[in-house]
Amino acid sequence: MKQIQKAADLQQAVHEAKDKGLEIGLVPTMGALHEGHLSLIERALKENDLVVVSLFVNPIQFNNKEDLEKYPRTIDADLELIKNLELRIKNEAKASALLAFTPTVNEMYPDGEPKEVYHFGPIEEVMEGPRRPGHFSGVAVVVRRLFDLAQPHRAYFGEKDYQQIAVIRNLLEQIKYPIELVPCPIVRADDGLALSSRNMRLSPAARQMAPAINATLEQAAEMAEYEEVDDVKEWVLDTLASYHEINDSPNGLKFEPEYFEIVDAITLQPIADWDEAGELGAVGCIAVWLDGVRLIDIVKF
Ligand code: PAF
Repeated sequence: MKQIQKAADLQQAVHEAKDKGLEIGLVPTMGALHEGHLSLIERALKENDLVVVSLFVNPIQFNNKEDLEKYPRTIDADLELIKNLELRIKNEAKASALLAFTPTVNEMYPDGEPKEVYHFGPIEEVMEGPRRPGHFSGVAVVVRRLFDLAQPHRAYFGEKDYQQIAVIRNLLEQIKYPIELVPCPIVRADDGLALSSRNMRLSPAARQMAPAINATLEQAAEMAEYEEVDDVKEWVLDTLASYHEINDSPNGLKFEPEYFEIVDAITLQPIADWDEAGELGAVGCIAVWLDGVRLIDIVKF
């Protein structure tokens, strides 16, 4: 692994790789790496000749200053995790090099806050979109910049941020870059909690309760065999909202569901009937507050 901080150095390395006809895989991250990120990096190492992992907390995708300030920054530990992964899968990797790109905000945005704005139509009018104004445009700006610098053949994104994948798919259609988008499955803790950098902020009591989100979604997937869409939606929201009344919730903690939507897997538009989902089926996407931490998760139907 080689750490690169300057955009020009990354461009130079990419240029040399392209001259040799090497295939490049990009894994964009905001650092605070966990097994979920490592699974993306591992896949990229197995499918490409050169892998670029970016670690950059992108200020323009945060619409809440406190959230940006609280975002965990663990760069030394992150680089160590990447090195260990490289060692661990050395014999299975196709890639002969990994570049960890760790730019400063100035390096990414030398002209100050970017003016460009992206729109994604109906995809951003649901779920995270209205609740986090400007978020997806901020994601698109940084991802496009990373695409321009790394010029990848493939780009790897985790399915936990399901709506983000739809946004990137749409971005690629808008900018017409021939990059293969590779969505990767969620990695979960043994108790089912979806791994997330935000889990670090859960108190021990909240961490103990959080797996109920996935357990509820799994039950919802079973209910979908015989219940209507609206009934499944209502059941998930009620089950989590009343969890503390029925279970021994540690420290009296409560789930506060923000939304649970059942949408078409590609268009992300809410469906009223299971038959309305297209060929990739339906996905349930949830955002829940627990002890001051906002958790998201998905279930495929
Ligand atoms: O998913 C994330 O961690 C971020 O949104 C991304 C794609 C790295 C852009 O900053």
